[in-house]
Amino acid sequence: MLSRTPPMGFNTWNTFGEDINDKVVRETADAMVDLGLRDAGYEYLVIDDCWSERERDPVSGRIIADHIKFPDGMKAVGDYVHSKGLKFGMYSCAGTRTCANYPSSFDHEFIDAETFAEFGVDFLKYDYCNRPAHHHGDLLYRKMGMALKACGRDILFSACNWGADDVHNWIRSTGAHMYRSTGDINDSFPSMRDIVCSQIEYLPYSAPGCFNDIDMLTIGMYGKGNVGAGGCNDTEYKTQFAIWCMFSAPLMLGGDIRTFSPETVKLVTNKDLIRINQDEEGRPAFQSYSWITRNADGSAAYKASGDKAKVFVKLLSDNEVAVMFVNFDDRERRVDFYFEDMGLPVASGYGLEMKDVFTGENIGVKKDFMYRNIQAHDCECYLCKISK
Ligand code: GLA
Repeated sequence: MLSRTPPMGFNTWNTFGEDINDKVVRETADAMVDLGLRDAGYEYLVIDDCWSERERDPVSGRIIADHIKFPDGMKAVGDYVHSKGLKFGMYSCAGTRTCANYPSSFDHEFIDAETFAEFGVDFLKYDYCNRPAHHHGDLLYRKMGMALKACGRDILFSACNWGADDVHNWIRSTGAHMYRSTGDINDSFPSMRDIVCSQIEYLPYSAPGCFNDIDMLTIGMYGKGNVGAGGCNDTEYKTQFAIWCMFSAPLMLGGDIRTFSPETVKLVTNKDLIRINQDEEGRPAFQSYSWITRNADGSAAYKASGDKAKVFVKLLSDNEVAVMFVNFDDRERRVDFYFEDMGLPVASGYGLEMKDVFTGENIGVKKDFMYRNIQAHDCECYLCKISK
């Protein structure tokens, strides 16, 4: 059986786009092991769109690997990935052509699933471009879900229809293990923020068995690569990683791992944040509403709804709780947090013993109310025990 916690790994799209090849994949596999990412839980190495020839093989009807990008074929790539103790992921699409106009699996679901099984594939990302209009998405994802079950390998099914057609209502029933819920991310703070804010109301639709995928991470890209956009700074990457962990989102790295700095590796291997992300109960985070968000000088800024500064709370197994303060605004904000709002009233006598996951510091037991002054785009995140 496949793991029931959010999948972790790497996907080629954010950095490499069309410029993928055997060498890049092998070097990435090496880097995932050498930098300790595999041992931190990043197990899937996924090749996204643009890996095949432009047309199917006319005789066998199968999709075949681009013979220049992957001269030894995909089975050889999969074997190498497996030899490093990693799992191998690939990409196809529910429409007539992939998003980048390569052959796609519409009406070929079962033969393609057989092909992926022969390649040794453990993970299939399944996109939604060029869908014939009279075919509803739920049936298309059901077909590939069935084909993967029939193909004789355990293959993680990663749906990618960008939140269209109320996907959260039907995707779990197709056999998918994760589902993209938004349009594509790019490496900028507004892109990340808008994706995150659009999914707050859908957090309850993410649970063991099938997790809401808010796209590949851009951490470590600094504006380079296929979705480079304006780039983010280290504060923004820190916020991105903490939110993905709080939201139980799949942790699919999208930066060029071969060039990750020690600081980037430290961030994405933070044990407390990964513990929050991988919690076996997989409960959704919720937003704890403060009545008012204040400016740093204490004056009132916004009413609760529409706040740019937010508090997220996630209940974990073993009576632990994760709390995150995040400031999406472009200037410093004071973020108020009433414990009553997460279900811990003053009269109970209980509070939270709080450990800062970034500094490792235990800031003691807090009760009733607290606030944090958070810089623009920054966050604080705490792993907590309920305590007197
Ligand atoms: C879509 C997906 C992306 C990526 C590209 C590939 O846009 O949402 O994640 O897979 O297709 O063409």
